[in-house]
Amino acid sequence: MDVFSAMKDRRSARAYLDKPVSRAEIEEIFHYAGMAPSAINLQPWEYIIVYGTEKDRLVRRLKRVHAERKISCGPGTASPLPEIFRNRSRRASQAMRPKVSELGLEFNQFVEEGSCSFYGAPVAIIVSIDRLFPKLRYLDVGLSVSYLLLAAQAKGLATCPIGLISSYGDEIAEVIDISEDKEIVLGIALGYADPESPVNNFKTDRESPDEIRFWYE
Ligand SMILES: Cc1cc2nc3c(=O)[nH]c(=O)nc-3n(C[C@H](O)[C@H](O)[C@H](O)COP(=O)(O)O)c2cc1C
Repeated sequence: MDVFSAMKDRRSARAYLDKPVSRAEIEEIFHYAGMAPSAINLQPWEYIIVYGTEKDRLVRRLKRVHAERKISCGPGTASPLPEIFRNRSRRASQAMRPKVSELGLEFNQFVEEGSCSFYGAPVAIIVSIDRLFPKLRYLDVGLSVSYLLLAAQAKGLATCPIGLISSYGDEIAEVIDISEDKEIVLGIALGYADPESPVNNFKTDRESPDEIRFWYE
């Protein structure tokens, strides 16, 4: 698969087949994730791959803390979002809502509980960065995550980045024994997408390039 097809076809998968991902497949994907560029080649990204009974333990803990604290998905901004961003987000949830309804589930509950359980994917990836880095270095981590998502796509696997779980970083750190000097910035579900599930059968839209690109000539 060429890189353009991987970019075009990738979408976040929120239902997974009960089909294991082999260690060799995971290793290959991380080989590519590690090829991302970074400032002065610092490679500040760190990944912890959680699967099997350890993943089940992590999910149980996340579900428990979510039931207590009920943090929902949001932009994480201190002030309300300007209309242009609210519209983009609204369009994405409007595309997804009818698919969640087809499953007979309530939208927020599906997204929040689904996020905390990595949507049933066999592999949960925890992405972290050393707290010593300034926020600009989080960009490098994002580049590596992009490589990871595209490499998975090229291998026929599916992913869903999961920011919600970073709100429960302390609990995750406790379960999988991450030291305090690491900040957990993202989770990623990895597995084989269930092609039959309605929630995997919609595509979010994007702004036209004219909306995000400006020329100075
Ligand atoms: C940093 C980041 C955090 C995200 N957090 C969540 C999440 O907590 N739960 C979820 O279901 N999807 C999450 N997503 C997936 C986005 O909703 C999705 O990427 C967006 O709607 C565009 O859809 P697409 O990935 O199918 O192209 C996240 C994506 C990113 C990049």
